[in-house]
Amino acid sequence: MESANITVYGAGYVGLVTGACLAKSGHRVHLLDVDRAKLAALAEGRAPFFEPDLDATLASGIGSGRLTFAHPDDAEASDPDETAADRFVYVAVGTPSTPAGFADLRYVRDVMDRLEATAAAGTVVITKSTVPPGTGEPLAARLAKRGIGYVSNPEFLREGNAIGDWYHTDRIVLGGEPTHVERVAALYADIDAPIVRCGITSAELVKYASNAFLATKISFINEIASLCDVMGADVTRVARAVGMDRRIGEAFMHAGIGYGGSCFPKDTRALDFLSTVNGHDFHLLKAVIEVNARQRLLPVMALKRRLGSLEGSVVAVLGLAFKPDTDDTRESPAAEIIGLLLAEGARVRGHDPVGRLSIDDPHYVHAETLEEAVSGADAAIVATEWPQFAKADWTALAPVMTQSAIVFDGRNCLDPEAVRAEGLIYLGVGRG
Ligand code: UGA
Repeated sequence: MESANITVYGAGYVGLVTGACLAKSGHRVHLLDVDRAKLAALAEGRAPFFEPDLDATLASGIGSGRLTFAHPDDAEASDPDETAADRFVYVAVGTPSTPAGFADLRYVRDVMDRLEATAAAGTVVITKSTVPPGTGEPLAARLAKRGIGYVSNPEFLREGNAIGDWYHTDRIVLGGEPTHVERVAALYADIDAPIVRCGITSAELVKYASNAFLATKISFINEIASLCDVMGADVTRVARAVGMDRRIGEAFMHAGIGYGGSCFPKDTRALDFLSTVNGHDFHLLKAVIEVNARQRLLPVMALKRRLGSLEGSVVAVLGLAFKPDTDDTRESPAAEIIGLLLAEGARVRGHDPVGRLSIDDPHYVHAETLEEAVSGADAAIVATEWPQFAKADWTALAPVMTQSAIVFDGRNCLDPEAVRAEGLIYLGVGRG
């Protein structure tokens, strides 16, 4: 396809990656966000969060003149080429959890109202935001009355690998009327991936089912890990051998303190809620969520078992981001673990190569280095498998910790023997 005119609503992870990659593919992309501080940083080519390769992709888009930014209320937000037939609008605004666990759709609805009132006939609106199945059909019907198309195009980007995932996705899912779907498919001509064409509600469900299935794999292997602890088996060996069966697969079989982030916890809760309100009790998903909540308690329970009271104990929490290669701390297990430790009276030092938690408690300190975090510590909890922690030199770290300090490896990423050899007590998740 010739270069298309594309507007993207929302400069979060999904919107920024979408906009930057589409601009790199040769399209003209106008990215809109309501956060003016974010827009100012973006205009200088700086992403508002840490994501490998994103700054370079943004810079190439800005440098080529094909990637521009604006506030939706500003005059420049409207595309100058109103008459273009090849107009697309991506909706990539947030859908956070409501207190009841459902997806809060107010930002999506605001954008849709705006588009219904202002978008030119012939435009195709493409929803990237994760919206509960059943959301898109009525929106599509409303937009169709004004000659505007609608396609559901869920994203499968992982934080920390989002640019790579854009180009090397396992599939592109497009839900909508065939004529609209084909126009959107043409935007992805440079991506070598199968395209799944389906209805809007099916496309929406693909997203939730994918995340719920991956979350299920994690909670399943965490249940096996608990059994390994009871039976004296090693879950890392068990998971590897089970995953070698290609029908099962090795991915998402790492036992630990559970999943976090802005997607799995939110999407599993939303799917459970959606099932319940539609009269289906999704037992399996409820168990997945419950197991995940329990995993986060494991390090605190283990320390209490070993140390008795945690009152006055010094505990280092290594890894504040919900996973490596990101500074995102949303729903990170570390945040909850630190809260529990503080409630038990411990003094906590948090450390992460890039992430930071804002915890307002006199007993919490952010340590800039690994050494500073573990210095004088009675215990260290590895909450994120950053390579810096996996490769840490325990020969150098052990002497600055208290004698026979505990190392709780919440991601099974350390070499237990290397830790034990330094006189430390190693505890993993399901390693017997
Ligand atoms: C996830 C999905 O992997 C993406 O496909 C999806 O697009 C995205 O959600 C989304 O819905 O936007 P992400 O949240 O970035 O991506 O992170 P993952 O790499 O999937 O990890 C999620 C959590 O599961 C992390 O806390 C990680 O530590 C945990 N995890 C992962 C495990 O505990 N064990 C594993 O074996 C794998």
